[in-house]
Amino acid sequence: MSSVKSDFKRVTTNSVQEMKRKGEKISMLTAYDYTLAGIVDSAGIDVILVGDSASNVMAGHETTLPITLDQMIYHASSVVRAVKRALVVVDLPFGSYQGNSKEALSSSIRIMKESGAHAVKMEGGVEVITSVERILTAGIPVMGHLGLTPQSIYKFGTYTVRAKEEAEAEKLLSDARELEQAGCFALVLEKIPAKLAQKVAESISIPVIGIGAGAEVDGQVLVLHDMLGMTKEFSPRFLRRYLDLNSEISAAVESYVKDVKSRDFPNEKEQY
Ligand code: KIV
Repeated sequence: MSSVKSDFKRVTTNSVQEMKRKGEKISMLTAYDYTLAGIVDSAGIDVILVGDSASNVMAGHETTLPITLDQMIYHASSVVRAVKRALVVVDLPFGSYQGNSKEALSSSIRIMKESGAHAVKMEGGVEVITSVERILTAGIPVMGHLGLTPQSIYKFGTYTVRAKEEAEAEKLLSDARELEQAGCFALVLEKIPAKLAQKVAESISIPVIGIGAGAEVDGQVLVLHDMLGMTKEFSPRFLRRYLDLNSEISAAVESYVKDVKSRDFPNEKEQY
């Protein structure tokens, strides 16, 4: 097993908070299915996010809006069955929590009860505080998400960097403080200036996990299919690709097609 894996036998919300206190960076990746979640978990990831990016990556939708609570629970329960060590956090999908705090609580209870996950994540600042507080009354840990919040894409109009202007940056910092006070155990910051992300991470005691938010935060998250190079068109500046799986899978499939057509597969040893 990798020597960079942190000591925790089972990562909990307390462990990630301890990592921040000790100055140990937190690693987080998305996963949506049993097979990849098992690989990611064995390789030593700290946190697995069953992100609503499944809507894009798994289902081919243009935005994260169409994915349903039932679909998120299906993905989450597949992931949970594979995971032995990582903390599993599940996105509350669009439409499952914005109505009111009662709806937010019942969606969170469904996720926890039906998937076996360990925490939920929701987008938004001051406008979701009563929901965060209500979910916490049921003992369900909540991760916040500020900056670029893809569920509000039609309000923003674009996926460009958020909080570049002072007023938006101030609102983001104040939202981060409110989420901390409401009891969130951690916070994701997506696509904001690195200096602002650093300021947020230094201003609050809960871990701040960035995606396109620079190096001076407490951890990093990427979408698994992006960092493995399976998604070809998506190429933001913050994305580091660790593999070119798109090309590798294409080459493997081309070889298989060729072998079938040429009758090379199956050979004598590959039959009964
Ligand atoms: O859904 C997702 O994958 C996310 C990450 C980008 C943080 O929310």
